[in-house]
Amino acid sequence: MDLREHVRGIPDFPKPGILFYDISTLLRHGPAWRTAMARLAALIAPYRPDLLAGIESRGFLVAAPLALELGLGFVMLRKPRKLPGLTLGLNYALEYGTDRIEMQADAVQPGQRVILLDDLLATGGTMAAGIALLRQAGAEVPAAAALIELTFLGGRQRLDVPFESLLAYE
Ligand code: PRP
Ligand code: MG
Repeated sequence: MDLREHVRGIPDFPKPGILFYDISTLLRHGPAWRTAMARLAALIAPYRPDLLAGIESRGFLVAAPLALELGLGFVMLRKPRKLPGLTLGLNYALEYGTDRIEMQADAVQPGQRVILLDDLLATGGTMAAGIALLRQAGAEVPAAAALIELTFLGGRQRLDVPFESLLAYE
């Protein structure tokens, strides 16, 4: 199955000149979605994760079903002030301004192998921040992965772990 047929590019979203890769069409096609999750599970299994983590919000759509598929637990990296209890947070730079992600301080046991997932890797800023936050919580991060990678933005060069993706766009 060619998963590319299930991802559409929408021009000028969210800003003029940006081609937005929309996974809604993949999500709403049962067999394609199942195939995508099975293929991504096969790509990350060799890294022997103990736990998967996903970045709010579209990263949850990838990490949670993969965790089920692999029989693993799932940890949320969330936008600020969403998680109860003691949290750890990290601010990171965007093209304009800054953003912040948080996780629960007790989400990971020291030394646990946690693979970080998102739907898409663009500049890599979000993924790099997520990896740094997981390490702050005591995790070992053997790899990161996403459904889609925009290779022309060089995101994987910003990561210091192996990165796996299902679909690369140039
Ligand atoms: C998008 C995408 C990734 C991130 C990639 O999230 O889902 O998380 O941007 O960009 P980067 O590699 O340049 O950091 P977005 O902020 O649009 O939020 P959403 O997932 O809540 O839709
Ligand atoms: Mg996102």
